[in-house]
Amino acid sequence: MYKLAVFVSGRGSNLKSILDAISQKRLTAKVEAVISNKFDCGAIEIAKDFGLNYYFVGNNKTGVFLTFEDLALEFRKLNIDLVVLAGFLKKIPNSFIDNFENKIINIHPALLPSFGGKGMYGINVHKAVFNSSAQISGPTVHFVNRNYDEGKIIAQQAIDISDVVSPEEIAKRVLQIEHKILPFVIQKFSDNKVRFTNNRVYLD
Ligand code: GRF
Repeated sequence: MYKLAVFVSGRGSNLKSILDAISQKRLTAKVEAVISNKFDCGAIEIAKDFGLNYYFVGNNKTGVFLTFEDLALEFRKLNIDLVVLAGFLKKIPNSFIDNFENKIINIHPALLPSFGGKGMYGINVHKAVFNSSAQISGPTVHFVNRNYDEGKIIAQQAIDISDVVSPEEIAKRVLQIEHKILPFVIQKFSDNKVRFTNNRVYLD
C-alpha cells in the first residue's frame, strides 16, 4: 500500500479530504503518520478520531516533540512513500528536504508563482489576492524544495473570483477545490503517474 505522512498545523480539512478519499476508494493509499508542530489543533483531533499514528515535531523541550532528524529515521522505518504538507506552518529544514528529494509535496491556496513566499499563508494569501483584484485564484500542489513555495508545480486549478466581496469568500471557494485536487494528485503519485520531462512535471 502507498504510504503517506501528512504534516499539519491547523484545522485539518485537507487531511480529512485525504482520509475521505481513501474511505470512498478514490484514493489508494494509507495515512501512516500525521505530524504536527502543535499539540492542540483540529488536525490532531482528526488523527485521533481515525486512530492514526501521530507525532509532534519541533524544538519543544517536553520530550514529546521529535526532531526532524528523528522523524526522518522514523519515516525510513515506516517506509513512507510520500510526504504531504497540508497546512503545515513550520519551515522544513533543508537536510530533511534533501533526504526526501521529490517526495515532499505541499498544497498552497493560490496560483503560484504569484502570492507565495514567506508570510503568505492562511488568510494573508487571500487578502493579497483580493487586494490585487486578481480575477482568478485557485490551489497549487507543488514539490517542496529549499525555497519557500518555489518547487516545481504539479497541479493547479483556476477558478473565477471576479464577483467575490471578501478574502474569506475566496478562501472558501479555493478550499473546496483544494479538497479535490490534493487527493487527485496523491492518487497520481500512488499510480506512479507523475513524470518529469523537459524540466516540467506531467501527470499521465
Ligand atoms: C489550506 O488552505 C492549505 O492550502 C494551506 O493551509 C490551509 C490548511 O487548511 N497550505 P486545513 O488545515 O487543511 O483545513
